[in-house]
Amino acid sequence: SVYEDEHIASKKVAARIANIITSKQKAGENAVLGLATGATPVEVYAELIRLHKEEGLSFQNVITFNLDEYYPMQPDAKQSYVRFMDEQLFNHIDIKRENIHIPDGTLKKEDIADYCLAYEQKISAVGGLDLQVLGIGRTGHIGFNEPGSAPNSGTRLVTLDDLTRRDASRDFGGKENVPTKAITMGIGTIFKAREIILMAWSKKKAPIIKKAVEGEISGSVPATYLQLSESVEFILDKDAASEL
Ligand code: GLP
Repeated sequence: SVYEDEHIASKKVAARIANIITSKQKAGENAVLGLATGATPVEVYAELIRLHKEEGLSFQNVITFNLDEYYPMQPDAKQSYVRFMDEQLFNHIDIKRENIHIPDGTLKKEDIADYCLAYEQKISAVGGLDLQVLGIGRTGHIGFNEPGSAPNSGTRLVTLDDLTRRDASRDFGGKENVPTKAITMGIGTIFKAREIILMAWSKKKAPIIKKAVEGEISGSVPATYLQLSESVEFILDKDAASEL
């Protein structure tokens, strides 16, 4: 769907999330959400905070799994996704701390493979993701699944693309300070979600959105794999959709 602007679109996505949470609540079940970082979902999270504070939306039954984290990364570092999620969402709602999962950027290298397997198992153990929200990087990455990622890939350590590190350089005060690696859910992990929403705003995303939606399905633009799923919805503002 294409919306007039990102504010309207973000509210729609937040309402969808709130709907999942409340319908699960009524059924006495947990809502399992896959969350994303970056600038794109910020307003969605702000709207969820508003729904919590003003309309009593509770997150007591919500379990979250974030897509990715830089590696290495200390949780209290300015650029960490742990800190991002706390500041943008978790510190402002009533989610239970033990229900929050974000890939651990402090692991020893030799522990990463086991950790990633356990991350996948934790998602399955709570019944799988009801919804995964995604942004998109200019390389066509979803999560940090850069070009070359396999469609059945699982959670793993990956090497970041040069363009991704350049795009992140402002947050880190120079590309040389951007970690070269990250831990990310795989394309296969994302695909298992019962619903997937990919959001993109602004002209800057228009060329990669065109490729993702209309381009040939190929590992060189990982987001094209989403064309293979029936449960994906692209939620765009006019600018991001302007080349379609
Ligand atoms: C980052 C994140 C992605 C995100 C993408 C786009 O690298 N790992 O999950 O979708 O970049 O970021 P933004 O929303 O800031 O454009």
